[in-house]
Amino acid sequence: MTTIFFCFLLPLFIAFSQTSPTTGADPTFVQSIKRNPMKLRAEKLSHLRFYWHDIISGPNPTAINIVQPPANKTTPYKFGAILMIDDPLTEKPEADSKLLGRAQGFYGQASQEEVGLLMAMNFVFSTGKYNGSTLTILGRNPIFEKVREMPVIGGSGLFRFARGYAKASTVTSDMKTGDAVVEYNVHVLHY
Ligand SMILES: *[C@@H]1O[C@H](CO)[C@@H](O)[C@H](O)[C@H]1NC(C)=O
Ligand SMILES: *[C@@H]1O[C@H](CO)[C@@H](O)[C@H](O)[C@H]1NC(C)=O
Repeated sequence: MTTIFFCFLLPLFIAFSQTSPTTGADPTFVQSIKRNPMKLRAEKLSHLRFYWHDIISGPNPTAINIVQPPANKTTPYKFGAILMIDDPLTEKPEADSKLLGRAQGFYGQASQEEVGLLMAMNFVFSTGKYNGSTLTILGRNPIFEKVREMPVIGGSGLFRFARGYAKASTVTSDMKTGDAVVEYNVHVLHY
């Protein structure tokens, strides 16, 4: 019996007593988070369609030029120009159709060779249960292409954790004033 203890059990006993002190206290700089802390339901895909009205002309513009490229650096495509926008989003292409929200942010001419805008805007919805929820767009918009795709990089409210894409296509544009109506089709995954 004693022989068995010394030959087999003692080495085991020593091995176990040596491993435990090396683990030490639990480190606190890493904390595991429950996978579903907010009791999120299954992720769903939503399709939104609305019309974006960019009004530059007239007494109540919704897009104003806030940055002009330096006069001696002006290129044919106004590289460097930036407009701040607070554009209405409506249910139909007509400006007097139901207001769904606004597109707030800015766009700038980021290409020297063509019209290629950098769009940075939040869609702020104001209707029904979506009132106050937002989606954020950050992407490239070469406005003379028929369909332009831009990433949806996030959202808030009912659109928390949103990710997806928006496709923009011009409905009407006035070359003289710059006013435009653009259809947005947005697909987003959210909870
Ligand atoms: C462009 O204009 C700025 C100020 O208006 C001036 O400082 C600069 O030297 C000019 N550059 C050229 C290349 O003329
Ligand atoms: C949307 O929310 C704002 C602020 O909470 C509130 O003032 C407004 O009446 C709401 N609008 C609608 C249409 O529910």
